[in-house]
Amino acid sequence: MVQKSDPQFILITGATGGIGRALALAYAAPGVFLLLQGRNPDVLAGIGQACQQLGAEVETVLFDLTDAEGWRSWLLSFCAQRPLDLVFANAGVNINHGPDNAGEPWEDIRRLLAVNVEAVFATVHGVLPAMRTRGQGQIALMSSLAAHRGLPVTPSYSASKAAVKVYGEGLRDWLAPQGVQVNVVMPGYVTSRMCEDMPGPKPFLWSAPKAAAHIKKRLAKNTPRISFPFPLNFGTWGLGVLHPAVSAWILRRLDYGH
Ligand SMILES: NC(=O)c1ccc[n+]([C@@H]2O[C@H](COP(=O)([O-])OP(=O)(O)OC[C@H]3O[C@@H](n4cnc5c(N)ncnc54)[C@H](OP(=O)(O)O)[C@@H]3O)[C@@H](O)[C@H]2O)c1
Repeated sequence: MVQKSDPQFILITGATGGIGRALALAYAAPGVFLLLQGRNPDVLAGIGQACQQLGAEVETVLFDLTDAEGWRSWLLSFCAQRPLDLVFANAGVNINHGPDNAGEPWEDIRRLLAVNVEAVFATVHGVLPAMRTRGQGQIALMSSLAAHRGLPVTPSYSASKAAVKVYGEGLRDWLAPQGVQVNVVMPGYVTSRMCEDMPGPKPFLWSAPKAAAHIKKRLAKNTPRISFPFPLNFGTWGLGVLHPAVSAWILRRLDYGH
């Protein structure tokens, strides 16, 4: 059962993915309303049912987030009726240079920026007016440890996650006096389709339920940056502060270079 201080009205984008699904299940409980966004109706319905079985009230919304403007408008109307306590801007895509090292296709880069950056900003702008009016709410922005230092194998993805990280940090300090909390989530490797598709080694891999439980715990404490697991967080943070020539040498040694 939820406590009075627990978030009751929660939006999760990308609820059909590994982390989104685990987050939905981690929060599902009697007294909780979950708004779950996805693209695949069957998968989304299955996750919705699993959350309902745990006692949550569930509404699903099918939306392709490459239509960021449509998504923002939809959220503005929704939140005018039913303001949200906690919002996860979680949906994301990853691309890489491909097995033959051909490079990231331009159309894939545009789609990545649309989902990972524009749709995340649109989510914030869709939910924020109602939160500011109420003087309460919490927004968790899904970045990545890849935001600490651009990885040669996924330059666009790293850049998109750095944008989200920096955006969240700025928003947090702006919105804190207005009662709205913003948190940047920076996972390392977490089991999901995206993670499976990523080339390269995956040290310190966490399961999605473990990651979701950790994120939930840290969000309850309003931790500004929820980055994990510790060894990889420390290592990637260190790569970001080292001279680029040194970090490039280390990345090559660790088999992340191309
Ligand atoms: N797993 C990791 O190791 C890891 C590490 C660091 C950060 N992250 C971040 O965590 C978040 C969740 O990723 P994940 O690991 O759970 O990956 P995932 O299993 O591939 O899930 C990605 C989610 O995003 C949705 N999505 C992708 N493109 C979309 C679009 N155009 N419109 C609407 N939804 C779209 C997917 O929907 P469909 O099911 O319809 O494709 C899916 O629900 C992402 O932001 C990712 O960058 C993941």
